[in-house]
Amino acid sequence: MLGATALPMAQKLAAQSRPKSVVISTANAFNGGINCCSKAMEVIKAGGDTLDAAIAGVNIPELDPRETSVGYGGFPNEDCVVELDASVIHGPSRRGGAVGALRGIKTPSKIAQLVMSETDHMMLVGEGALRFAKAYGYQEEDLLTDRSRLAWRMWKRELRDRDGHTNWESGTDAPPKKKVAELKQAFPGVDEKTLEWAYKVAMNPPPHGTINCLALNEKGEMSAVTTTSGAAFKIAGRLGDSPIIGGGMWLDQDIGAAGSTGRGEENLRVCGAHTIVENMRHGMRPKEAILDAFKRVARNFDNDAKRLAQIDLNFYALHKDGEYAGGSLWDRRTKGGPPAQFAVCTADGNSRHENCVFLMQRT
Ligand code: GLY
Repeated sequence: MLGATALPMAQKLAAQSRPKSVVISTANAFNGGINCCSKAMEVIKAGGDTLDAAIAGVNIPELDPRETSVGYGGFPNEDCVVELDASVIHGPSRRGGAVGALRGIKTPSKIAQLVMSETDHMMLVGEGALRFAKAYGYQEEDLLTDRSRLAWRMWKRELRDRDGHTNWESGTDAPPKKKVAELKQAFPGVDEKTLEWAYKVAMNPPPHGTINCLALNEKGEMSAVTTTSGAAFKIAGRLGDSPIIGGGMWLDQDIGAAGSTGRGEENLRVCGAHTIVENMRHGMRPKEAILDAFKRVARNFDNDAKRLAQIDLNFYALHKDGEYAGGSLWDRRTKGGPPAQFAVCTADGNSRHENCVFLMQRT
């Protein structure tokens, strides 16, 4: 039997070893990550399920037309159609669901949850996924915004064949013009800042966005969700890592959870989220587990920094004991700017950005 003084100590130790509620996510534009984590924590604190919480969180950037990497307003495919991917895992029931190349529905995370809870399948794609969503009352909508259409038109216009020709520009007999003047004429009514943004999007390797959200409550229940519009201007039907359970996110609530954003093809070649959770199973802490997964990515390129420089890839990990980390393949600091970051909300309701660990640094 414990003595009178030992009892409060035992209770204190038990409380310390109990998992604290934590939510982490990608630090998306327009504070999408911070808002996502706060919302998820709000649901957890109100006694909600961890998957409902994570989905309520990612619904914020999914529904925000300014966010061009997920949901409504996401960058379209090469045919100028927005196709969305998402996957979920619910830790307590050990079930998961996913959708791929889903058109016309702003919140693919919710459809992935329905695949999990209402069907005997793990994944629905394309036309079938849309019909499934409609069967549950979802309205098909146009997900393209003026901003993402502008970026697509700019991309199309700047594409060149090997002779430097494009059919999407005024004819070769048109008088030569300066680039900005030419763009202003081609996109009348668009302000210069927006044109510059769209030109940057079009001229760089296709951007990958995505939001991954991992949630833990104080009962030790965990859930994970990843949602994306995928690689900008992708071939229709292309799936990246986000809808692939084990790739874009993975979770075993006896161990922890992990997820990824960035170039899905490279993540899939190391099955990143599953690898990170397995690393934690074998004793690595979240940071170490993430860095090990990045080392596998680098190994796939013979550690060639020049080729790896093309790749933007991020991992997130949440241990069942509440320890967490975000990681970026590359240190993104340039000229003293901030490093890559991720968003976190802790049990006290404090939602903030924290710095990512990174594997590689540009010289
Ligand atoms: N990670 C998002 C994608 O590659 O589609």
